[in-house]
Amino acid sequence: MTTSAGSLQEFLKQIENFESESTPAFRDAATSEALEAARIKYLGDRSGLLKAIQRELGQLPKEDKPIAGRAFNEAKTRVESLFEQRSRAVGGSPSASQIPLSDLTMPARHQWRGAKHPVTLVIEEIADIFRELGFTIALGPQVETEWYNFGSLNFPPDHPALDAHDTLYIKDDVLLRTHTSPVQIRTLQRFPPPIRILAPGDVFRRDFFDASHAPMFAQIEGLCVDEGISFVDLKAMLTNFATRFFGAARTRFRPSYFPFTEPSAEMDVQCQLCEGIGCAVCKGTGWTEILGSGMVHPSVLEAAGVDAERYTGWAFGMGPGRIALQRYDIPDIRILYDSDVRFLEQIARPVLSEAEG
Ligand code: PHE
Repeated sequence: MTTSAGSLQEFLKQIENFESESTPAFRDAATSEALEAARIKYLGDRSGLLKAIQRELGQLPKEDKPIAGRAFNEAKTRVESLFEQRSRAVGGSPSASQIPLSDLTMPARHQWRGAKHPVTLVIEEIADIFRELGFTIALGPQVETEWYNFGSLNFPPDHPALDAHDTLYIKDDVLLRTHTSPVQIRTLQRFPPPIRILAPGDVFRRDFFDASHAPMFAQIEGLCVDEGISFVDLKAMLTNFATRFFGAARTRFRPSYFPFTEPSAEMDVQCQLCEGIGCAVCKGTGWTEILGSGMVHPSVLEAAGVDAERYTGWAFGMGPGRIALQRYDIPDIRILYDSDVRFLEQIARPVLSEAEG
């Protein structure tokens, strides 16, 4: 027992020395190089002092091992944590125990990516077709004066046609535009003919918010003004557009009325869903109305300062929202206003993957 007690005392002394020597070495290490040198000397795997002491621990008699082992472990923990604390302070490379646990085989997180709204997709597709026909994009303000929204477009004051265009007035003669037709006037005032423009934008009406109406919706205006433009141009361009946009669908023109066009016509395309047989969507008619159009009224050209003796033109206005409902088989217009990502993704995905090839 005495020999064993003696060697235990020696062993404990050794640990004490190790700790009192290594502690200041780590504490005073001011650079990562100095710290690394201290690590090799005291904690190094091969020739470190701690390793040597550990080997001696193995030589001790069995009955001394519990006390010696505990002293050894306590000193080891203290010195190692001092080392880690210092290595954080001097900004050296982190030791293995400092690296946060992470599972590199975990699947990556789902990336949210934005998608274009169905109405935007329809507007872009329409604009692409008209771009090839020589049309450029023109924009106008959503807050308009009465003159641009009505007066210049040949609406007589208090005419019943105004009823369909009831809207929100900002003040006496300033209102939220009820259609994109004011952009016709603004464009004609700024640029001399020939003119071919497409004017997409939001418009506002005092409509109920139900399955097929909304108080705010998108429109696309088209305007073509030049010498010698006739109804033939209108029919040819719009039929060409409908064939490209809707495939080989049939079209028809019906007489209509707008104060700013004369003559006026509404264009229908064969219902995409029943292909003309008649279904709930087309209310049994086999046709869907997609736009209003007509030859620009001479007094509209004059109001915008264009010589109506020399120039003629045609215009149209259509609702890309209605077209989006048809195209993507959406049963309720209100879905277009919900911004529900689960819905938008259904339409955006195929479009995205198409674009990505
Ligand atoms: N501005 C009309 C509407 O909103 C549509 C239209 C535009 C009709 C251009 C003819 C020519 O109802």
